[in-house]
Amino acid sequence: MGVFDQSLAAFLAPIKEFLDDETVTEVLINGPTEIWVEKKGKLTLTTASFGDESQLQAAVRNIAQYVKRQIDSQHPTLDARLPNGSRIHAVLPPSARKGTTVAIRKFAKAAELSFEKLISWGTISADAAEFLEICIQLAKNIIVSGGTGSGKTTFLNLLGGLLPKGERLMIVEDASELQIRSDHIVNFETKAADHEGKGALTIRDLIKSAMRLRPDRIIVGEVRAGEALDLITVMNTGHGGSMGTTHANTPMDALVRLETLASLGDTGIPLAALRRQIAGAVHIVVQAKRLHDGSRKITHISEVLGVDENGRYTVQDLFKFIQTGLGEDHKILGEMRPMGNIPTFFEEIEVNGFTYDVKKFAKPAPTKPSAQEVLAQHQAALNAKSPVAAAAASAGAVAPGAAGGTGSAGGAGGGPGVAGAANPIAHLPPAQQQAVIAAAAKAGMSVGQYYKWALEKQKAAAAAKTAGGAKPAAGGKKPGEAA
Ligand SMILES: Nc1ncnc2c1ncn2[C@@H]1O[C@H](COP(=O)(O)OP(=O)(O)OP(=O)(O)O)[C@@H](O)[C@H]1O
Ligand SMILES: [Mg+2]
Repeated sequence: MGVFDQSLAAFLAPIKEFLDDETVTEVLINGPTEIWVEKKGKLTLTTASFGDESQLQAAVRNIAQYVKRQIDSQHPTLDARLPNGSRIHAVLPPSARKGTTVAIRKFAKAAELSFEKLISWGTISADAAEFLEICIQLAKNIIVSGGTGSGKTTFLNLLGGLLPKGERLMIVEDASELQIRSDHIVNFETKAADHEGKGALTIRDLIKSAMRLRPDRIIVGEVRAGEALDLITVMNTGHGGSMGTTHANTPMDALVRLETLASLGDTGIPLAALRRQIAGAVHIVVQAKRLHDGSRKITHISEVLGVDENGRYTVQDLFKFIQTGLGEDHKILGEMRPMGNIPTFFEEIEVNGFTYDVKKFAKPAPTKPSAQEVLAQHQAALNAKSPVAAAAASAGAVAPGAAGGTGSAGGAGGGPGVAGAANPIAHLPPAQQQAVIAAAAKAGMSVGQYYKWALEKQKAAAAAKTAGGAKPAAGGKKPGEAA
């Protein structure tokens, strides 16, 4: 441990236990005596204290010195990394009203994280992770989008670990955070201006340099200003497989955000052209989100298709996180599901020798009540004396699953006219009623629908008989089958 590490450790003694505690993911200091920690996505106030403002400021100054940056009245904020890889951001008073305010973000060690872990935590599905791995191999350009602390950097780290060996990767960051493990990596970090306001190196400067240093791919840790345009240019000029993160709440918003940032600089590019460039540059948007229960999930994996005739971005969701309920302690239950869209570059996957079953993009079948369940429901309603109950049950069975908005093959066509009507087979003897109900349930239709269809079929058959073998009018199709 160097001299600085030791003095750092001494200055940070009041929070050392949290820095060492692996279950703590974030340490938040709101002035010298108010210190919070985050564990499992939840914040708790601790009793730790820096004593007074001067001690806290001394610690922050020491960190700044360690990373060769400044924090003083002229430069009242600091972005830096601690020796253990944690990220730190600090703001001095008087802007920080409670006293020096600091956030220390501890990253799960890159070596300890893996897609397997994220899959087991429910952050992403195995199929989606496999798809992203193929996207990286195919050199698709990927933007990881999300809110603050949603897990963007963590996810980008993992994606970076999937890069093909032997490719030259250039990483450009504000304060280095990414710990991508690969065999040929060059890292760049921005540099603040000196006392005379000289010598600053911005992300934009560094991307321009990176472009001249024979990169295969470029990763920009976080796109938050005019460098959006540079990254788009990188992506559009043959450095396929480039990546970056940006702050946005949906994949569509991520594109709009890049557009806004790219047009911040004096680009002179007409908006329509810029949009086409962005839509052409970004192939996949991975959306990360910190949910209410503190968990981090990938909520969307979407493909950018282009720009429509009205100049709007078009995006298709390939995978999405679907919440299915709420568990104990308000834990959000759900899973990532395919959305039934096949990426436009699917052929490329096959042509390049990857095996990815196209069925993995298929929407899972809507959960439909079984025929027996529908039958039981009807019988219960018919047995009940109330004709209203019977009618409601009959209407309710129009399209099992339709209530959830999922629709079903049998119910899609013929709902109107039956819903809300009285039991359409009330006039039949009970045994025949039961036979009709069973047949309807088997066909996946409502009783009214099935009965109407059966009657029409009977009529058509009779007409065909009298017409001497002419084609039956109603054909063999069940209502709804056409739809
Ligand atoms: N899938 C996950 N499950 C649980 N914790 C996670 C997950 N992904 C990230 N984290 C943790 O959440 C915190 C925030 O992660 P990260 O820094 O990657 O977010 P970010 O979106 O890049 O944040 P920022 O917007 O501040 O840059 C870190 O402590 C990280 O270890
Ligand atoms: Mg980040």
